Amino acid sequence: MDKREFLLDMREKAQEGGGKARIDSQHKKGKLTARERIHFLMDEGSFEEIGAFVQHRSKDFGMESQLIPGDGVVTGYGTVNGRMVYVFSQDFTVFGGSLSETHAEKICKIMDLAMKNGAPVIGLNDSGGARIQEGVVSLGGYADIFYRNTLASGVVPQLSAIMGPCAGGAVYSPAITDYIFMVENTSYMFVTGPNVVKTVTHEEVSSEDLGGASVHSAKSGVAHFTAANEVECIRQLKQILSYVPQNCEEQAPFVPYTISDEERPKLADLVPENANQPYDIREVIEEVADEDSFFEVHKNYAENIVVGFARLAGRSIGIVANQPAFLAGVLDINSSKKAARFVRFCDSFNIPLLVFEDVPGFLPGTDQEWNAIITNGAKLLYAFCEATVPRVTVITRKAYGGAYDVMNSKHIGADMNFAWPTAEIAVMGAKGAAEIIFKKEIDAAEDKNAALLSKEKEYGDLFANPYRAAERGFIDEVILPEETRTKLIKAFKMLENKAVKLPRKKHGNIPL
Ligand code: HXC
Repeated sequence: MDKREFLLDMREKAQEGGGKARIDSQHKKGKLTARERIHFLMDEGSFEEIGAFVQHRSKDFGMESQLIPGDGVVTGYGTVNGRMVYVFSQDFTVFGGSLSETHAEKICKIMDLAMKNGAPVIGLNDSGGARIQEGVVSLGGYADIFYRNTLASGVVPQLSAIMGPCAGGAVYSPAITDYIFMVENTSYMFVTGPNVVKTVTHEEVSSEDLGGASVHSAKSGVAHFTAANEVECIRQLKQILSYVPQNCEEQAPFVPYTISDEERPKLADLVPENANQPYDIREVIEEVADEDSFFEVHKNYAENIVVGFARLAGRSIGIVANQPAFLAGVLDINSSKKAARFVRFCDSFNIPLLVFEDVPGFLPGTDQEWNAIITNGAKLLYAFCEATVPRVTVITRKAYGGAYDVMNSKHIGADMNFAWPTAEIAVMGAKGAAEIIFKKEIDAAEDKNAALLSKEKEYGDLFANPYRAAERGFIDEVILPEETRTKLIKAFKMLENKAVKLPRKKHGNIPL
């Protein structure tokens, strides 16, 4: 074989991964191969592979005779919708996609390139974990990746798709990245698997029930997105990229937009007359954002707050909105954590923040207090306080108590705060307030109910409106709901060149 043929032959071998039988078995499970996933993700013909001939260095357990080019991970770069990304795709057909020393080195190499060149890293994970035959060098390889994940955090966007097993310490690389995508029924993540769980806690649980996509998207909040199949998952990866910049020095892509009639009459009727009646904040978001641009993050987790990306007149924004249709939109531990992480992502990557506020306060109860609503609520407060991107708030209805301060109030650095005429900005709801401050009068009254109602009205007339706050300048403008989109487009345009510097420090100490 001449040298040219030798190379072509090597290339062909590298494409084969673990061979036809294992590829068939992968397909039978409803999974794509590492290369097929890359094919669906990247622009056609744009992918350039790096390290296709890399082999492991293990000599134990007969490994020296099992050398498969690429060593269980396909790495390289290419474009998604014309924009550069770096990608690694673990190949389950080669040693179960397990991570060896050299497999880790390949991943580190593209992460280093991504950092130097300022472009996102996408990890397609499908792995049996540490290469058991290698021992500690494999653990070292994981740690090398975790370290880079952390250094890259806030510098370039990092996305993790889980498309098979992801167990043991391996879960911590995705956990440090910005967003985790899981595929229903074929992916799972856990620190210790069902067998260990059974030994230690005597619980019998399947992999799916312990760490499948639905568990992590709805219960633990570990996963931000789930997809019915891998192709859908890859579509979601591409979609999120369209809202984010390449790195922390750049702005998100702009979609050309011509301003025309931006009035949204439907908004006028969305908030019910009765302040205790729910409505779906997503309807407000859909009306305000550019058509079909809202891309919800963490949809099934802590549904009392809605977060996601959208476009406003072509510009990428991050939306955080209390959801009155779920637990009356109350702030609790999970919703605070969910929103705080989203706010920090947007701030890291120069994505302006829009907040819709309708919040009755923080959720009371022993469960919340004992599980540290204090520390967790503080996460959201801290995240907003330190965010230097353009920040605009619209109070649609309730803005009560500490939640008023936390939800992007003027006092903590919001730039423009609007309120609808239906806004109620006060320390607490009128009934609760009347019961406390008029307790003596109500107790002394013959008809206690009538006395309470009259005091409730008195307090409500005084405070359950946006005008007290507007008098102080805490609200910049009270606007009609139908004007909201126009006002927001103008406000974000006005804030386009916002530049704020935080006090010099090594880093803050967010209440983790
Ligand atoms: C080496 C592995 C491997 C591993 C799987 N394989 N996991 N080889 N190291 N970790 C190999 C198998 O030997 C097999 O090889 C092929 O991959 C496919 O595996 P199967 O078991 O046939 O597949 P399946 O039935 O689908 O089961 C997949 C699996 C199972 C659930 C992932 O393989 C498994 O339990 N693997 C071990 C998982 C584990 O304990 N990993 C270490 C976790 S600790 P052949 O040649 O037969 O095709 C860890 C610590 C990280 O990861 C710490 C970081 C700080």
